[in-house]
Order: sequence, then structure tokens, then C-alpha cells
Amino acid sequence: METLKPIKEGKVREIYDNGDSLIMVATDRISCFDVILKNIVTKKGTVLTQMSKFWFDYTQDILPNHMISVDVNDMPEFFRQPQFDGNSMMCRKLEMLPIECIVRGYITGSGWASYKENGTVCGIKLPEGLKESDKLPEPIYTPSTKAEIGDHDENISYEQSVAHLEKYFPGKGEEYAAKLRDYTIALYKKCADYALEKGIIIADTKFEFGLDEDGNIVLGDEMLTPDSSRFWPADVYEPGHGQPSFDKQFARDWLKANPDNDWKLPDDIVQKTIDIYLEGYERLTGKKL
Ligand SMILES: Nc1ncnc2c1ncn2[C@@H]1O[C@H](COP(=O)(O)OP(=O)(O)O)[C@@H](O)[C@H]1O
Ligand SMILES: [Mg+2]
Repeated sequence: METLKPIKEGKVREIYDNGDSLIMVATDRISCFDVILKNIVTKKGTVLTQMSKFWFDYTQDILPNHMISVDVNDMPEFFRQPQFDGNSMMCRKLEMLPIECIVRGYITGSGWASYKENGTVCGIKLPEGLKESDKLPEPIYTPSTKAEIGDHDENISYEQSVAHLEKYFPGKGEEYAAKLRDYTIALYKKCADYALEKGIIIADTKFEFGLDEDGNIVLGDEMLTPDSSRFWPADVYEPGHGQPSFDKQFARDWLKANPDNDWKLPDDIVQKTIDIYLEGYERLTGKKL
């Protein structure tokens, strides 16, 4: 069996080149405050991959996505090992569009910071008097440019996204920017409505799109996972402050409360983190892993 090496090793995900396709592996690593912790969160990678699969299936009517298979039997022999089973996705290789397509249904995080300062987010004027975590009258599209390694992503206006795309794809800026915005809003609306029925608020999320060999826009990357989104439990939702989230909350809180942590969590915090990832998956999909 040939041993394969990832072409890219991120903090959490690893990407393998497979000719026409890519294989994206979500590991059980956890990063908090941009540091990889010393613990392994068992099944986290599987939760992330299976959640993306669920959403890709659920939104096929809106646009095509890059998913080919999550069955390791469809992948090279190397992936038929326990550490890849369930957490690997074979994907169509795309030419990625250099915009992070962020959509916000609620005001929090960097959006809240910007609103407090000047009443706008990414050039969009919002109603006066919003409280932290308030639901917005309509979801807003707030694109950002993908930063070079080490840099922070930069929020841009819709008009700047046209110009940015035009730079990479002359003659196509208007068309691509409008499509990315419209797909992003449509995907968010459909999935946020569904999640809310299951007791989960999707406060915001980020999508990435690319072009296939025929120039069609295809949804790529991961989709609506706790790593790319803010999921809040709806039953305890209360505007006016930050919300608990369905992912690394316990880990983050414990690290903050224990500054001499050496980036290692105690077992009970790891277990709580595993449980919350599994609960998020089960609530959303109605299935157990
Ligand atoms: N179908 C695809 N084809 C090519 N590249 C993709 C595809 N889906 C996602 N990508 C890219 O793969 C990379 C995934 O890397 P990731 O682990 O998320 O780290 P980062 O986002 O920091 O670059 C991103 O650059 C993303 O744009
Ligand atoms: Mg990424």
C-alpha cells in the first residue's frame, strides 16, 4: 500500500491530492485561540465531515457541491484505515474563488464590534438600538477576502467583492459576486430554518465556492460545521450578551479560567466537548453516529 502525504496540513484538517479529486480529512484535533491543544477530541473529525455531508445533501437543489463520497471504499487503499473512516471526504477539485462568503442572521463577534463602533457591518447600515446577539431583520451577506497565511481576513463591502473578483477573473466580477451573494443567502435561509426546527440557531456561517472545469460555480470546502459557523442552543437564547455555543465553549471557558493550562484540558472537559459535538450532530440530523 502506498503511503500518501497531505498536500496541506491545517490546524484541524488535512488535504490529500488524488489526481482529479481531493481527499479532505477532518482530524480529531481541537484548536482554541488559534493553538492546537494537546488533547484529542474523539469523533470530532467524524462529526465535522458527516455534518458537511448532511448539509451538502440537503442543499443540492440550490447548487451543486464538491462532494463525491464519504465512503473510504471509493478512495485509494491508503484511506481504508481506521483513522480515515468516517472523517474523510473525496471532493471534486475546484478553482477556488478568493472570497470568504459570510452570512449573518444575528449580530455577534466582529459584526457586533463594527456595529457598536459605527452602526454598520461591511458597509451595510443596520437598524439602531440592536443588542448583542439580536436577530437581524434579514440575513446579511458580509464577504471577506481570504488573507495570505498569517494575515487576518479582511471584511469588504459587496462592491469591493465585485472589484476583487474582477481582478482575478476579468469580465466576470459582477456575475460571480452576485451569484456568490445570492447562493450564500439562499443556503443560509434554507439551513437556518431547518436548524431552528431542531432547536439550533445558526447565528452566522461561512461558505467557500469554486469553479468546476466548465466554469460553473460549485459549493466547496466544509459546510455548516461548528468550525465554520456559530451554532447556539435556541432554548436558552437571550439577546443582550454573548451566547453559549455548540462546540468549544467548555474548552475555551476552562482554558480562560486556568491560565497555567499548558494547552492541555482535563479529561472531563474533553468528554464534555465530545458530548456537545455529538449532541449537535444528533439534534441536527436526527441520527446517532
Ligand atoms: N473542492 C476544492 N478544491 C480545491 N480547493 C478546495 C476545495 N474545497 C476547499 N478548498 C480549499 O482547501 C483549503 C482548506 O484548507 P483549510 O484546512 O480550511 O485551511 P485554510 O482555510 O486556513 O486555508 C482552503 O484553502 C479551501 O479554499
Ligand atoms: Mg478553511
